[in-house]
Amino acid sequence: METKQESCRLPRNGKRVILFPLPYQGHINPMLQLASVLYSKGFSITIIHTNLNPLNACNYPHFEFHSISASLSETEASTEDMVAILIALNAKCVVPFWDCLVKLTSISNVQEDSFACIITDPLWYFVHAVANDFKLPTIILQTSSVSAYLAFAAYPILREKCYLPIQDSQLEARVIECPPLRVKDIPIFETGDPKNVDKVISAMVSLIKASSGIIWNSYRELEQVELTTIHHQYFSIPVFPIGPFHKYFPASSSSLLSQDESCISWLDKHAPKSVIYVSFGSVVNIDETEFLEIAWGLANSRVPFLWVVRPGLVREAEWLELLPTGFVEMLDGRGHIVKWAPQQEVLAHPAVGGFLTHGGWNSTLESICEGVPMICQPYLGDQMVNARYISHVWRLGLHLDGNVERREIEIAVRRVMIETEGQEMRERILYSKEKANLCLKPGGSSYQSLERLIDHILSF
Ligand code: UDX
Repeated sequence: METKQESCRLPRNGKRVILFPLPYQGHINPMLQLASVLYSKGFSITIIHTNLNPLNACNYPHFEFHSISASLSETEASTEDMVAILIALNAKCVVPFWDCLVKLTSISNVQEDSFACIITDPLWYFVHAVANDFKLPTIILQTSSVSAYLAFAAYPILREKCYLPIQDSQLEARVIECPPLRVKDIPIFETGDPKNVDKVISAMVSLIKASSGIIWNSYRELEQVELTTIHHQYFSIPVFPIGPFHKYFPASSSSLLSQDESCISWLDKHAPKSVIYVSFGSVVNIDETEFLEIAWGLANSRVPFLWVVRPGLVREAEWLELLPTGFVEMLDGRGHIVKWAPQQEVLAHPAVGGFLTHGGWNSTLESICEGVPMICQPYLGDQMVNARYISHVWRLGLHLDGNVERREIEIAVRRVMIETEGQEMRERILYSKEKANLCLKPGGSSYQSLERLIDHILSF
């Protein structure tokens, strides 16, 4: 991997790409990784970001950053209703984004680089119309899996066939139109107005259909069937599965929270594959009961654990104050709890033997690439689909798909960490890890897709 100084000396190709990440960790990381990949291939990079979760430009001295104001009220920005936030963001960023492009394109007349295209997150569904006015092609970076996207895109048919709204009596029923999903695996969001989910999904699909290309943080060997389906459905749009992105550049420089390095020295004291790592990513919220069930499940498993309890993870709690008095002391060093971890480093550590995860797509890819089997406890959106694929298609982990209960967690942790079943998953995931590494090497599927992507952008 090259250092920043080396990459600054790389030859430029005279083309500048504008990238517009959605302001959430799971979307920022892949977009910034893609920016670094494109920079390393000679493109100049402009990042437009919002004042909601702003990025630290100092970590990327070779990129140009422009901030726009999302003007969300405190209540709007702090709601758990992700769908409502998305709608507000899309409405409020149109004018600032437009103004930013006016400024950028007028400067471009005096700059050496010409703007080639805008690469945007598909949840910024307003972007295509604005980009069109500036005659800039739009390329989509899909930060979720291909499988999850197909489930979202199937929403109209799922409504027509009455799978939605989900009925409790139907949870175990198979969704014939979206194998291997059951009704309980359909990606859903808790939101004040369910019609808004359809609105956002339909806008996202329209944006994708109007785009000049789709980049996936995935790779052919993992999602061959789903990529073929995409190709058949959107045959006129070029598709570039060039992942897994974090293998090119780590996510640490785009982390919104500071990563607690104490985890690594704690892990250093443990035997190989003896620790279960626990993290639910950057957006999931859980309530007090779930938090305590997880805490007791981990404690009762007697397996050493490293647990990321992000401030804000537990509703109505600052951090760990809801744990029973004496809980941490009772663990006698068997548990280490941090606010945010250097996740890639943690997963790559020899002491880590399993990952209790919400099944976010970045976490899934990071776990596969380090050969760490997963226990998935999905909460919302694409996590439901990822969990189903991890457990039933790729067979790289377990899926906890009932209520969060201590006994279930304890059993699952022991199945993955101690029993033969876990060993078998580990063997399968090591094979997947190898395939992921190979696809990035010269001649590999992602390597070739990246070459095609570069030619595609240069052709604008
Ligand atoms: C969200 C969605 O929940 C996810 O399902 C979707 O695929 C992307 O957007 P998030 O919940 O944050 O993302 O999960 P995930 O996709 O796993 O991304 C989390 C990122 O934060 C990963 O790159 C991970 O390495 C990083 N992370 C997580 C840390 O750096 N430290 C931590 O302690 C935890």
